[in-house]
Amino acid sequence: METPIETAAGGLLELAVGDVAHGGWCVARQPGGRVVFVRHALPGERVRARVTDTTARFARADAVEILQASPDRVEPPCPQARPGGCGGCDWQHAAPEAQRRLKAEVIRQQLRRIAGLDREVTVEPLAGDSGGLGWRTRVRFSVGPGGVAGLLKHRSHEVVDVGACPIAHPLVNETGVTGQRWPPVSSLEVAVAPGTGERAAIVTSAAGRRPAAGGAGTPAGRAAAMLAGRAGTVLSSGRGGQLTALRGRGYLHQRAAGRAWRVGAGTFWQVHPGAADALTAAVLAALSPAPGDVALDLFCGAGLFAGALAEAVGPGGTVIGVDGDRGAVRDARHNLRRLPWARIHHGDVAAMLAAGTVPVGGAGLAVLDPPRAGAGRAVIERLLAPAAGRGDRGSALRRVAYVSCDPATLARDLKVAGELGWRLAGLRAFDAFPMTHHVECVATLAPACAARPERRRERPGASGAAGPRRAAGWSRMGACNSGSSPSRSRAPTTAGCWRSRGPPRTWASTRSSAPTTTSGSAAAAACPGPPIPGSPWPRWPARRRGSGSAR
Ligand SMILES: C[S@@+](CC[C@H](N)C(=O)[O-])C[C@H]1O[C@@H](n2cnc3c(N)ncnc32)[C@H](O)[C@@H]1O
Repeated sequence: METPIETAAGGLLELAVGDVAHGGWCVARQPGGRVVFVRHALPGERVRARVTDTTARFARADAVEILQASPDRVEPPCPQARPGGCGGCDWQHAAPEAQRRLKAEVIRQQLRRIAGLDREVTVEPLAGDSGGLGWRTRVRFSVGPGGVAGLLKHRSHEVVDVGACPIAHPLVNETGVTGQRWPPVSSLEVAVAPGTGERAAIVTSAAGRRPAAGGAGTPAGRAAAMLAGRAGTVLSSGRGGQLTALRGRGYLHQRAAGRAWRVGAGTFWQVHPGAADALTAAVLAALSPAPGDVALDLFCGAGLFAGALAEAVGPGGTVIGVDGDRGAVRDARHNLRRLPWARIHHGDVAAMLAAGTVPVGGAGLAVLDPPRAGAGRAVIERLLAPAAGRGDRGSALRRVAYVSCDPATLARDLKVAGELGWRLAGLRAFDAFPMTHHVECVATLAPACAARPERRRERPGASGAAGPRRAAGWSRMGACNSGSSPSRSRAPTTAGCWRSRGPPRTWASTRSSAPTTTSGSAAAAACPGPPIPGSPWPRWPARRRGSGSAR
């Protein structure tokens, strides 16, 4: 029985720890039902916890003494992974396998609570994982008032001097950013390429400094000089995230999917060295692209999935990528320059879908890989809704792969997809961020309507001249209830691409401020069964344990 000793911040509580919750927390309850979200604890433990803050509805606390330990508990490899220490890791005190079980349970909770989906989930380790350490190829170190570069305390701007970070890739630690005094800049972000050994750094000037100031006498210029010999590329980040090269080429060469990719130091790239390969394979398995297919890559970054899809659809097919970051678009165009049937547009995905610049009506396959905030209702509706009220013929997509780094926003978007008549045909999850609460999912969506015929596959080269315009003549079966007569559709256009400055670097991690709790654990999937009350989704067959996509 819990004993409430004190509920104000700083007070101690003795708690029986319950389920895991999204965000690196476990849930406990005080007598009277008040919820306490506890960090540094594990389900089933009995702990003494110090309250860190309270709201009208719940309290947050750190487990400071473990009275009864879980069998999953281990000694954290990093001495800073403790209450009051570095906030970068959430689960260092759990064995790696247990971390993956916790993440699987969080995904299950989010799907059940938000989308009304019952689903067994397995979180797979990535190739090359070595006990969850040494994987992080991009780390943003904050610089504290004394010039020390370190990582931030949990839910705080206080900089913790972490020394060498054990989850950082060795190339990151070799830059020696921690352990020395820096001029008054606000952060030093290090990105590395394990395949080539290249290192880059982005120096962000302190707030209020002139944008991208990097002259010899400026703090950013002095920081760049200190990085000589440790980072081949150094960029200065000014107001609005605008990057100015102070040294080097400005990009790294990453290896994935059997080839090299040019990736700007400020462009998104998967941070775990095994993630790009694993996600590309999962996306291809989800979509089964064939020669002649037309595929969309929304939120395409440097073109990873667009490139893999372009190889698969061949010159008789078409791939259209969209990203809002100009640097990413430049990289993607460079990376795909030998695959001219792949075209990359710059712009906001929702706005481009709304404007009809991205020809949804002509595509059979799509991959979505939005930032943590998710794709959102507007994008899901534009992409998946039937034709009603639209100028084009609506979605003829037969498969969509949704790559997500946040199970809560994934579940929210899957709920919308369910309302539009789509079903979750497969789900894989990857431990792409060991020791943290983050996890990567690849969900496969397919039309739920059995009467909706899949588009006929085009023979390679069947529709005319080479290049993207070939797609103008592809034939397909109509969407559900449409009468199913093959017809021509609009050609994907590469002209008139909607242009904007885009959302600079919106991929950057945005941590949710409040933990999400769940109402009990999900039952094992009944297959098939009645709909879950309040959910648009039928109960679909659960994925077989250990298997990939359930398609
Ligand atoms: C998670 S990354 C995925 C990148 C790529 N698929 C990969 O795996 O390397 C998300 C991408 O979405 C882009 N982005 C964020 N918000 C956007 C928006 N509203 N419209 C278009 N692109 C956006 C970012 O620039 C970033 O490249």
